[in-house]
Amino acid sequence: MRERLILALDLPTLREAEEVVRELRGEVGFFKIGLELFCATGPAAVEMVHRHGGRVFLDLKFHDIPNTVAGAVRRGGAMGVEMLNLHAAAGTRALSAAVEAAREMASAHGRPAPVLLGVTVLTSLSAEDLAGQNIAAPVEQQVATLAAMVHAAGLDGVVCAGSEVRTIKRTCGKGFLTVVPGVRPAWAATGDQRRTMTPAEALVCGADYLVLGRPVLASADRRSALARILAEMEEAIDA
Ligand code: C5P
Repeated sequence: MRERLILALDLPTLREAEEVVRELRGEVGFFKIGLELFCATGPAAVEMVHRHGGRVFLDLKFHDIPNTVAGAVRRGGAMGVEMLNLHAAAGTRALSAAVEAAREMASAHGRPAPVLLGVTVLTSLSAEDLAGQNIAAPVEQQVATLAAMVHAAGLDGVVCAGSEVRTIKRTCGKGFLTVVPGVRPAWAATGDQRRTMTPAEALVCGADYLVLGRPVLASADRRSALARILAEMEEAIDA
């Protein structure tokens, strides 16, 4: 079960991130390096996780023109990260360019291509937020449209909310990965997330990976918060 947990290292310094990695390596499948840590440290954070034997999901959510996205995927892949993502809203040509760049880079370095994910609608956005952007479609429909684009472009899966997993699996197939952030145990604060689910609920819906940040990082005892989450996940699967 722990292989399916992705811990977000949303921390401002390499020292704090390394403290968490030292404490929790072996307890999670991936460490996620996002914008905050990468802006603070650059590739040093990726090297640090690798030094401790961890796997890296580089969550920089590229959203740019195809040529720029392809270059960023090549550089990310060259660092040896095993998971990478970009916004589906960057469009079909950018998505296809990312797939091609990941394959080229992998064969040039003689290693497997990183798992490539398309970000659908951020889990911090609600129906009202979409309406404010002049997107009239319900959130679920917008996510399904973006997921179909991501699937057609040949990526490995999407980042979406737990409530959207079933629809995506139905239309894109069981093997199409769903990575779910906005995961909140009943005992944790929601914060800025809007489309949330508990770890157990997300698993029951068929999520392949769960992303957790603050429910673990903000806890006074990170190790026991993680153990509690894992126990809830195991209970849900056994039920
Ligand atoms: O602290 P929390 O559990 O909300 O962290 C969620 C993590 O997942 C953050 O690093 C955030 O950037 C990321 N994420 C997200 N929603 C998405 C994509 C990524 O919350 N749609």
